[in-house]
Amino acid sequence: MSKVVVVYHSGYGHTRVLAEAVARGVETRPDSTALLLSVEQVALHWQQMHGADAIIFGSPTYMGCVSAQFKHFMEATSAFYLAKPWRNKLAAGFTNSGNQCGDKFNTLVQMVTFAAQHSMIWVGLDLLPGNNTRVATAQDLNRLGGSLGAMAQSNLDEGSDTAPPEADRRTAMHLGERVATLAAQMSPIQTHLSSQSG
Ligand SMILES: Cc1cc2nc3c(=O)[nH]c(=O)nc-3n(C[C@H](O)[C@H](O)[C@H](O)COP(=O)(O)O)c2cc1C
Repeated sequence: MSKVVVVYHSGYGHTRVLAEAVARGVETRPDSTALLLSVEQVALHWQQMHGADAIIFGSPTYMGCVSAQFKHFMEATSAFYLAKPWRNKLAAGFTNSGNQCGDKFNTLVQMVTFAAQHSMIWVGLDLLPGNNTRVATAQDLNRLGGSLGAMAQSNLDEGSDTAPPEADRRTAMHLGERVATLAAQMSPIQTHLSSQSG
């Protein structure tokens, strides 16, 4: 049984839709559970995060980086930076922005750096880019062509009922499923690693 926490911020609901898709992806594996936490809730759930096999981070891209609320969460984890309770856990990330590019690659890079600071093991998306040939379409998985994590785009004049589009929700689901699959496969190794670390 692997436990995966999905921790996210969403100002207007679009990134929450993705977080829910990631959690659904995790739970497509019968041996995996997903705990969906908004950054406003994490203070009550640190122990569940410390006990998880994997943590997946999600933030909208605001001004080319993670949102202030997500950064607040990142900084709150400095309280246990030295103790390293997340060492060797799997980590992954997703982001959503208003523009096709929107500088959201930088948001994922911030998450990778954050995960490395906690000695986590980053899991990329493992999907070929879609939507990049004459026969490809915007309905393709990974239509925005990310590798570090799941990227999504929500038109600025659409609510979270329709944006981000289905292709991005399925891409987010894929990320959740991939992390859960790897977490299950790595479970014996993780147990070994935790018995080795002081
Ligand atoms: C303060 C702020 C800054 C934003 N900065 C960017 C940006 O740098 N790039 C971009 O493409 N969209 C940007 N957007 C648009 C959001 O990324 C987009 O509306 C997204 O869907 C919001 O997700 P949420 O509903 O989960 O908050 C910004 C929105 C806000 C409110």
